[in-house]
Amino acid sequence: MLLKIKRVEERQGDITVSGSKNSAIPILCAAMLSNDEVIIENVPDITDINTLLSIIQKIGYFVTFENNVVVMKKKRFIKSTIKDEDVKKMRGSYYIMGTLLAKRHKVIIASSGGCDLGFRPINYHLDGFKKMGAKVSQKDNYIHVKAFSLKPCTIDLEFPSVGATINLMLASCKTMGKTTISNCAKEPEIVDVANFLNTMGANITGAGTKVITIHGVKKLYGTTYKVVSDRIEAGTYLILGALLNGAIIREINPQHISSLITVLKNCGYPIYNNSNTITIEKRKSTKPFNVTIGPYPAFPTDLGQPISVLATQIEGNSILKETIFKKRIAHIDELNKMGAKIMLSNDNIIINGVTPISPSTIYANDLRGGAALVLASCLTNDFSYINNIDVFLRGYEKPIEKLASFGIESYLVEQEDGKENIF
Ligand code: EPU
Repeated sequence: MLLKIKRVEERQGDITVSGSKNSAIPILCAAMLSNDEVIIENVPDITDINTLLSIIQKIGYFVTFENNVVVMKKKRFIKSTIKDEDVKKMRGSYYIMGTLLAKRHKVIIASSGGCDLGFRPINYHLDGFKKMGAKVSQKDNYIHVKAFSLKPCTIDLEFPSVGATINLMLASCKTMGKTTISNCAKEPEIVDVANFLNTMGANITGAGTKVITIHGVKKLYGTTYKVVSDRIEAGTYLILGALLNGAIIREINPQHISSLITVLKNCGYPIYNNSNTITIEKRKSTKPFNVTIGPYPAFPTDLGQPISVLATQIEGNSILKETIFKKRIAHIDELNKMGAKIMLSNDNIIINGVTPISPSTIYANDLRGGAALVLASCLTNDFSYINNIDVFLRGYEKPIEKLASFGIESYLVEQEDGKENIF
């Protein structure tokens, strides 16, 4: 699918942020830990969620998804062997491992997919499962994790991995005794998943700090829970506001993107916020930025690609140092095709502005790289064509509507047998 997109009007954007993709994915997996009905609100209607719900149905759950609300309940015997190819379409399917290890003490599953950001091992997840007493092996492209019984333990993560922290919380929440995970990731998504598990009856403390303690419980119950807002979607549209005529971003906790707010303020953009709304005003930036990407609360890797576009419109050299996914660079060639001047020097991405951005035909390689191309295309008054926009749709809900509030005209176009279907 491709996105045909141009700017038609100068307007301040005004959007309400959707639920967080990276919270909703593990929360939907965690919901499988209860046999009762679980209701999850504020779930974004995006491709990754629909892919995951289809896998969960096949595992043995009754699932409905309407108006951003998922209702889930155990339907029949829960499968522990998941041969579904859909697992490879997304990264977060690896949370099925921790969940089914806790529930069934065994799981056989294909390796998860997701964006190509270079080598993305899951050794911290698997080493943690082993420490809990599981046997882990890989056969015929499937990961096998099995445990006669799981034991409480202390796991010290080599790096504060988001995925490993969540997977180990999931795996251990029904293991009687005290499990401690140290050097944890502290992202708001970790806190959201722990809060959700606690409303189901789990006993998890310390989420959002370096050490998480899990006291195992025998049973998890049904609950109703609202997923936190997506700080990366909020940040993407805040950057779009800085690029265009300002923006009002609603239903977002500003603390969750305080690193971005600080960078934008230092660049000279007026930003105001109350507890759940952020407003950015139109202003020419006065200063380029120098940002090091890192684990929360540092600047998020998922906003590195989108903010590169802003740097193309700021006079001077802005510098981004990517320390998490060093190969998250596929957007650079595409932005340069549009007129940007971005180069790599060791691990630094150096963006020289101001450069005019021209309408172009470009290719989205990955989700946040796709977001960067969407932002760049919003700077042009003639149509740009972004091929493989599907990767962007994995993570952004209702983008056509939200972009329209910024004065952007865009269409999703499916090309089939030489015909064009417009959505
Ligand atoms: N790492 C390992 N071994 C592991 C796990 C991670 O070496 O077992 C390395 C990774 O290669 C990377 C670093 O540790 O260099 C951090 O990886 P982390 O585990 O924190 O990331 P992730 O769980 O794979 C999640 C999000 C990403 C987001 C990162 C960082 C999901 C499904 N994915 O990935 O989101 O960039 O955390 O915040 O939650 C996106 O939404 O576009 C996206 C890529």
